[in-house]
Amino acid sequence: MSDSPSGKISNVLNETRIFPPSPSFSQQSSIGSMAQYQAIYDASIQDVEGFWAKEAREHLHWFKPFETTLEWNEPFAKWFVGGQTNVSYNCLDVHVNNGLGDKVAIYWEGEPGDQRTVTYSDLLRDVSLFANGLKKLGVQKGDRISIYMPMVPELAVAMLACARVGAIHSVIFGGFSAEAIADRNNDAQARFLITADGGYRRGKPLSLKQTADEALAKSPSIEKCIVLSRVGGGTSMQEGRDVWWHDLIDGVSENCPAEPMDSEDSLFILYTSGSTGKPKGIRHTTAGYNLYAKRTFQWVFDHKPDDIFWCTADCGWITGHSYIVYGPMSAGATQVMYEGAPNWPQENRFWELIERYKVTILYTAPTAIRSFIKWGDHHVDKHDLSSLRLLGSVGEGINPEAWMWYYEKIGGGRCPIVDTWWQTETGGIMMSPLPGAIACKPGSCTRPLPGIIPRILQHDPASGDLVDVGTNSGGMLCIEKPWPGMLRGIWGDDERYKQQYWSMVPHMYLTGDNARQDEDGYYWIMGRIDDVINVSGHRLSTIEVESALVSHPAVAEAAAVGRPDEIKGQAIAVFVTLKSHEPTDEMREILKKHVRKEIGALAVPDDVRFTSALPKTRSGKIMRRLLRDIAAGKEGTGDTSTLEDFTVLVRLRNDDES
Ligand code: PRX
Repeated sequence: MSDSPSGKISNVLNETRIFPPSPSFSQQSSIGSMAQYQAIYDASIQDVEGFWAKEAREHLHWFKPFETTLEWNEPFAKWFVGGQTNVSYNCLDVHVNNGLGDKVAIYWEGEPGDQRTVTYSDLLRDVSLFANGLKKLGVQKGDRISIYMPMVPELAVAMLACARVGAIHSVIFGGFSAEAIADRNNDAQARFLITADGGYRRGKPLSLKQTADEALAKSPSIEKCIVLSRVGGGTSMQEGRDVWWHDLIDGVSENCPAEPMDSEDSLFILYTSGSTGKPKGIRHTTAGYNLYAKRTFQWVFDHKPDDIFWCTADCGWITGHSYIVYGPMSAGATQVMYEGAPNWPQENRFWELIERYKVTILYTAPTAIRSFIKWGDHHVDKHDLSSLRLLGSVGEGINPEAWMWYYEKIGGGRCPIVDTWWQTETGGIMMSPLPGAIACKPGSCTRPLPGIIPRILQHDPASGDLVDVGTNSGGMLCIEKPWPGMLRGIWGDDERYKQQYWSMVPHMYLTGDNARQDEDGYYWIMGRIDDVINVSGHRLSTIEVESALVSHPAVAEAAAVGRPDEIKGQAIAVFVTLKSHEPTDEMREILKKHVRKEIGALAVPDDVRFTSALPKTRSGKIMRRLLRDIAAGKEGTGDTSTLEDFTVLVRLRNDDES
C-alpha cells in the first residue's frame, strides 16, 4: 500500500487471483492469445487513424465512402468525414441481403410469459413499416423523438426506424417520472413521443401512457404521441395528438429505403446525470458510433454466428443502445430480450430463461449479481446453465467476492468474465479482457481495447504539474486520443462539454473516474473522482472498503462514504445490508475487525450503519451523494442498530438520477 500525503490514492485492494482462459476457449477465439492481442493493440496505437479507417471500410456499409478519417478540432471530433451510411441499414438490410433474413434476431419474452421470435427479415419489415408511419406523421431528418417504452421488440423497432429516416432518438428509461420525461423533452425540443399503454413489472401493468400524459402537459414542443398497445384494456387518447401504433402503420408500404446519412449526423441523445444533478444530453453520431458499437461487441464477446447473447440491461441506458440494439444487430447476432423483473414470478427467472433459450453469453450488472447472491444458490441449482460459455459485467466495479460467485456458480468455473469498463459518453466498451487472450483478475477491467490509450494522471505535489502516476498509484483516468465512439458533445451546451471533459486535464478526455495500473499493466477502476475518502492524508477508494465488507459472509451489499471528522479530515461511514443476520452491535464490531484484517487499521469504518436496502439510481448505482449527506448529518455511531429504510428517500430523490 502506498502512503499518500502527496494526494495520490492509496491502493489497498490486494487481489492476487488470476484466471487465464482455458486452452479450448482460446483456441476458438478470434483473438486467442496475449501475443495476438498485444500485436493488434500496438499496431492500433501506432497509427490510430489508419487503424480506424481500415476498420470502417471493412465493417460498415457505405452509400458513399469517406474522404477524411478524422477532423480533430479539440475537443470536437468528426470521424469518417464525407462518407454516408445508415445505422439501420447496417443492422438489418446488410444481413437480409446476405441471405440471413431467416436468422433469429430476437427471442423476446414478456414478463407474463408471452413469447415472440423475430427474425432479421421480420425486423426489417417492422422497422420499414414504422419508418413509413413516422414519415406519414411528418417526421423529418434531424427531428428529435423521445421514446418512453417497456422492453418490447417495438422499442428496438422505434429506435431503428428513427435511424432509418434520420430522426434523432432520445430514449427515456421506462421507470422515469413525468417530471424527468418533460425535462428531457424540453431540453431536446422533441417533436414526437413514442410510448405504450403500459408494460409489465413484478406482475403488474405499469401505466406508461398516464405518466406520458402528465409529461406531455409540460412538453410544449411535442406535436404527436404514438402509442403502442402492449397491455390492452384501453387508455385515454387525446384527439389530434395521440395515435395508435397499429393505426399509424395500417396500409403503409413495407418498403422504406434507408436514408443515406452523413457520418457525423446525430444518431441519438441519451440523458445521463452529472455532478450538478441536471441531466446532460450526451450526443452520439452515426458512423463512428456504429463502428465502435459493432467492433467492441465482436471483440469483447468473442461473438460467433451461433451464439445466443443476452444483455439484461434496459434499452433506456447506454448498455441497451450499444449492446442490445446497435452492436449485436450490426453483427447479426441472435439475442434474448426480456421485459420484466429478475424475481418474477420467482427469483430463478434469469436461470430459467438461460436454460430455455440456451444462452451462451450473459451480460449483466454487479447490482443484479449481488441480488442473486442474496436470494440464494438454490434458485440457481435448479437449472442447467451449461450452455453458457462467457459472462460479462457492466455498470460499476464488481467486488472480487461477487466476481468469484458469478464465476463459480453461474459460469461453472469454465466461463471467462469480461468486466467491461465504459460510460454513456464513450459509446462503447473501452477496457475489458478479450476473453480468449487476456487472463482475468477479479475486480479488474484489465486492458484497453484496440485504439484506446488510457492515461492515469495526478498533480505533482511539488510543482503542481499534472504527471503520470507510477505503478499501483491511483489517479485520474483520462483517454489520450479521440476514438470513433466518443460523445460529440452535450446537446445544446458546448461550454458544459468543454468544461466537464476537457478542461481539468489539457488535451485529454477526463473520464471522471479514478484508476490505477498494476505491475502487470492491468487497470483497476477505483470509483468516481468524488467518491474518494481522505482519511488522515490517505486517500481511499470507496470500492475497496466495500469489497472488503462484501467479502464477509454475512454481508449482502455495502456502500462506503466519507464524512467530515475534526481529527482525521474524513472518517469512513459504511452502510451495510446483511443477508439474514441480526443487525447487532456485535455484528458491527465483527465487520470492523474484518475490514481491519482485510485492508488494515486505516480503513476501519468509524460508523457502521445497517440498512434493509441501499438507495440506488434507477440503473442500480449506489447513490453515494445521498449517503454522504446522511453520514454527515447524523451524530454518534453506536445508536443506529435498527435497520434504516431508504426506499422513501430513493423514491423522492431518484428522478434526477440515472
Ligand atoms: O464509474 C464508472 C462506472 O460507471 C460509470 C459510467 O456510468 P454510465 O455512463 O451510466 O454507463 C454505465 C454503462 C457503461 C463509469 O464512469 N463503471 C462502468 N463500468 C464499470 C464501472 N466502474 C468499474 N468497473 C466497471 N466495469
